[in-house]
Amino acid sequence: MIIAIDGPAAAGKGTLARRLALHFDLAFLDTGRLYRAVAHEIIRLEVDPNDIKKVVLVASSLEPDKIEVIDLYTEKIDEIASIIAAVPAVRKELLVYQRNFAYSPPNDKTGAVLDGRDIASVVCPDASYKFFVTADLDVRSRRRYKELQENGRKSTYAAVLADIQQRDERDRTRKVSPLKTVDAIVIDTSGKSPDAVFLRALEYIEGDQLN
Ligand code: CDP
Repeated sequence: MIIAIDGPAAAGKGTLARRLALHFDLAFLDTGRLYRAVAHEIIRLEVDPNDIKKVVLVASSLEPDKIEVIDLYTEKIDEIASIIAAVPAVRKELLVYQRNFAYSPPNDKTGAVLDGRDIASVVCPDASYKFFVTADLDVRSRRRYKELQENGRKSTYAAVLADIQQRDERDRTRKVSPLKTVDAIVIDTSGKSPDAVFLRALEYIEGDQLN
């Protein structure tokens, strides 16, 4: 079983993905972390994000299994990740790992849940289930702002909103793998609890399995 979850920033993709992975005993991959890890390296090595050759080199030397412990949720990383995610060669470098994870999941799992922007459209077009998780811009900005505050990061609601708006625009309008709904089940998480979102997805999957 492969479950693809796409959607804009801070829509609740990760929360749903983790719950589904736990419930069905599947492996889970937050693909945003791969782009964030490349951005982290670019900042650390002081590479110019517009220097495509160097950026691709950084992406190709990423060791995805080693990025677990780094804090990748800074405003700078948010921005650089969405800039380098628009580079076709960077996406190509990261695709192999994602597909391999989905089709040969680690730890003897029988399937995987992947969340990101192009899982249903590019990484796993033949996924068993495809969800597009979204929420109002205001709701998403509040959630991300609260998360940042809880992690002791200084920011303002206005700055978070502007960041999310800019990233969504970039992710939706880029030429390669733009964020789009494809043939997915859309779940709007505005005003819904994580439990309600999980149950809605479960209802769909179980309903489908009965057919
Ligand atoms: O956590 P949040 O929803 O804010 O973002 P993320 O999923 O961690 O992704 C960070 C950035 O990576 C996004 O803004 C996208 O530009 C990029 N990304 C992508 O292009 N394709 C993916 N499959 C996942 C992330």
